[in-house]
Amino acid sequence: MAVRHLIDFKDWKSKEIEELLDIALKIKKNKEKYYDVLKNKTLTMIFQKTSTRTRLSFEAGMTQLGGHAIFLDWKTTQFIMADIQDEAKCVNRYSDVIMARLLRNADLMKIAEVSTVPVINGLCEKYHPCQVLADILTVKENKGNLKGLKLVYYGIANNVSNSLSVIATKLGMNFVLSAPERHAISLDEELLKQVNATGLYSEEKDPLKAVKDADIVYTDTWVDMELFLDPKFEEEKKRRMKTFMPYQVNKELLKGVPDALIMHDLPAHRGYEIDDFAMKSSNSIIFDQAENRLHAQKAILLKLLGKA
Ligand code: CP
Repeated sequence: MAVRHLIDFKDWKSKEIEELLDIALKIKKNKEKYYDVLKNKTLTMIFQKTSTRTRLSFEAGMTQLGGHAIFLDWKTTQFIMADIQDEAKCVNRYSDVIMARLLRNADLMKIAEVSTVPVINGLCEKYHPCQVLADILTVKENKGNLKGLKLVYYGIANNVSNSLSVIATKLGMNFVLSAPERHAISLDEELLKQVNATGLYSEEKDPLKAVKDADIVYTDTWVDMELFLDPKFEEEKKRRMKTFMPYQVNKELLKGVPDALIMHDLPAHRGYEIDDFAMKSSNSIIFDQAENRLHAQKAILLKLLGKA
């Protein structure tokens, strides 16, 4: 049987995603029961980009499941000079599962193509499936039923909005994208076709119209992590700040929806995509999202390794 990967939830059935959420909730409630489930299993984590949450949650997750995680910084490995599939085949020989955060999805697909063990996408320019599973888990904990909820995503259309629109619509939620621009490299025409076909996806450029009756307001950085501090990106960063400021999640925007949950996948840039009021609001579930990375990813690991 072909090995199952998690590149994005695009090719997962709604039932399978619901099952992952149920497993995650079970693990979160009874973590002691799972202490030995991945005994002697090794997760290799390959990072081409920086990370706090993804690295820590996968590493802590493997420890709590009785296994072990190895961190590989791409630039200190032979991946920088060798054939990517040669290196991936070798990583396979030492690993039971691989998680990779790569700059380009095409490279992740090259690894998945030769991998005999499951490959998990820890973020690429097109998708961030692990993040959105944790996000939806957090919404479920707060709201119970997901069907019919309205989630509005503000800022730049990107990898996170892609994956979030897929998972939300697959679970019967209404997803509204309120964005003046798309990060060009994140474009996936097939994904847009898929979410449009559900009838639950829409786009609304006017941020105030978009927010009407929102149950959840979500935002993400306007600038990719590898470019945020890059002096060469300074001019474009200034342009984006001007273009995107009307889409900031702030006190003014939230006035009309006092009960809406506030979400951000972090790291956050206060004064840019979100203000301090929204970050500190009692409706903010931002740090619960971060914690839920741990529980959601344990569910992914167990499912892909046939231990769920
Ligand atoms: N949200 C997220 O993926 O966090 P890190 O970039 O810190 O891993």
